[in-house]
Amino acid sequence: MAVMLRVEHYNEGDIIKKESLHFIAKLYHFMHSTNHIADALLSWFDRHGRKDLPWQHDRTPYRVWVSEIMLQQTQVATVIPFYQRFMTALPSIEDLAAAPEDTVLHLWTGLGYYARARNLHRCAQEICREHNGQFPTDPAGLEALPGIGRSTAGAILSLAMHTRAPILDGNVKRVLARYHAVEGWPGQRAISDRLWRHAEHHTPQERVADFTQAIMDLGATCCTRSQPNCGSCPLHDGCLGRQRGRQADLPGRKPRKEIPLRRRWLAVVTRSPGEVLLEKRPVSGIWGGLWAPPEFDEEIAARAWIQDIIGIPSEDCRIDAPFHHTFTHFKLEAHPVRVHCEANQADATTVNIDAEGLQWFSLHPPPTVGLPAPILRLLIRLRAETL
Ligand code: ADE
Repeated sequence: MAVMLRVEHYNEGDIIKKESLHFIAKLYHFMHSTNHIADALLSWFDRHGRKDLPWQHDRTPYRVWVSEIMLQQTQVATVIPFYQRFMTALPSIEDLAAAPEDTVLHLWTGLGYYARARNLHRCAQEICREHNGQFPTDPAGLEALPGIGRSTAGAILSLAMHTRAPILDGNVKRVLARYHAVEGWPGQRAISDRLWRHAEHHTPQERVADFTQAIMDLGATCCTRSQPNCGSCPLHDGCLGRQRGRQADLPGRKPRKEIPLRRRWLAVVTRSPGEVLLEKRPVSGIWGGLWAPPEFDEEIAARAWIQDIIGIPSEDCRIDAPFHHTFTHFKLEAHPVRVHCEANQADATTVNIDAEGLQWFSLHPPPTVGLPAPILRLLIRLRAETL
């Protein structure tokens, strides 16, 4: 931009005429004004925006809400088949509210962050119970519901209700942090407050659904994390981050912490003709509400449990190669402690098994309950062995 170049060419100590400063300030204000960004984004959206995503058809608050929750920590390409399967199984909020939790968690198996699915289920029940099956139409009403934060509320309002409301998901944070050269990690309150103010300021009154989709799409397809395509960006001219050469470094990254390794032992008990023993995990903690083999902090505890509950001597256990899974805060190294019993051998212990909150599940095919992805893979391996 010509004026910015002129400014850059001033040296410290040069006298800038008052009128020039005035003009520059006005121009800067114009480049960052609500309508300039919205206009530029909307005309870019008309040519390049995404208009055929499954949740863009038949746009109801329910369909938009489910997509937003799935998209919170997961890429669009991964979400699409899960979303379609979910909508086929539970096409309305009433269907979701009435579904067993295991069904909801099953439909979420493989998407991760299962608290999202449990909150989704609770939220549907609350909307049906307290709001007659209708989503509240104001930010405060939406944000009072389980699992709905300010950005998700903004997305539901703008995308499904055409109500002016800002959003600030990961893509939008990146676009705004670069455009306004906001330094610092958006996980910090002060930084996210600044970004929210920018988001609020830029959100237009008209075409708010298209604007919301446009700014998300720009972040996803053009203003990408690495190698942003500034040459084809509709916000190129006014982008302070680009002018300062900071686009690769903004937004600031979360301070890195070494994540610890946790070793755990899983009591993997199978019985003929192809069943596995699982327990439903407590709601709090990792994999809350999902089914998995009983887990122990020490190998000896897993062996002792197998001996006491299943009645198979510890020496008959076999330890399989461990598998790994990375969570946000730690890396799991899980060691399967394997035993196999014949149907009649296991029958003798069934009383204990019920009392322990355990259940036998067929491996042919694996059960349609909520299973963590690495446990589903384990069951598929077990199935191959017992075929
Ligand atoms: N991420 C969050 N919401 C989205 C949407 N509606 N479309 C594409 N990506 C998204």
